[in-house]
Amino acid sequence: MKVLTFDSAAEIGRVAGEMFVQTVLQKSNAVLGLATGATPLPTYDYMVKAYESGKVSFKNVSTFNLDEYCDLPKAHKNSYFTFMNENLFSKIDLNPDNVHFLDGNAADAEAESARYAAEIEAAGGIDVQFLGIGRNGHIAFNEPSDRFTNDAYKVHLTESTIEANSIYFDDVPMPRYAMTMGVGSVMRARKIVLVATGKSKAQAVLSMIKGDIDPHCPASILKAHPDCTVLLDTDAAALL
Ligand code: GLP
Repeated sequence: MKVLTFDSAAEIGRVAGEMFVQTVLQKSNAVLGLATGATPLPTYDYMVKAYESGKVSFKNVSTFNLDEYCDLPKAHKNSYFTFMNENLFSKIDLNPDNVHFLDGNAADAEAESARYAAEIEAAGGIDVQFLGIGRNGHIAFNEPSDRFTNDAYKVHLTESTIEANSIYFDDVPMPRYAMTMGVGSVMRARKIVLVATGKSKAQAVLSMIKGDIDPHCPASILKAHPDCTVLLDTDAAALL
């Protein structure tokens, strides 16, 4: 695990964004694993600017998002699908046919998981997986638990996650369940980039980097990945 610390979130956005741009410049049909949350936004801004300036085209790129809320219409303003459309997809030349999402409203979660795994495999696997981290050390929506997960599944969100994310929900209560890629699916990506900013992530970052590999801090497994880069601001790195 390579850990780099920066002075600002904007600088992290430039570095992570440039990693994605370089990936696409080297492989025009790259497969990107994408994340939601506030932390990835400066990275997406950088990717949009790189597209607008003519530096890169995403027209042959495929994307797989990490997770989606259950019991929320896909077009709801708080769905992760809407988030990605508003912050990245609608601003670049990505082909909508190449955008992949877990269906949070799938009637059969196991069948939905199998569908997603098959689509990732058919695309040739994920080249670069982008991750944020939850305050409790979760990645995607893999909450602390007694075992590491593998493929996608339906998860009951923890109180910590509900408290952190419910600030975004004003018209409906925040969903209690989500469909998420499992830890195994994340670990199969060829390269992983995790970003964390702010004091609220310092404890999770400490456990991820200095703690044992333990499913009670799901992000700790990233230490076992052969090509994982962690980009932190000074606040998120404060306890290291
Ligand atoms: C959600 C997402 C995660 C994300 C986390 C942190 O729970 N499922 O993928 O990493 O929030 O989000 P933020 O970057 O807003 O702190």
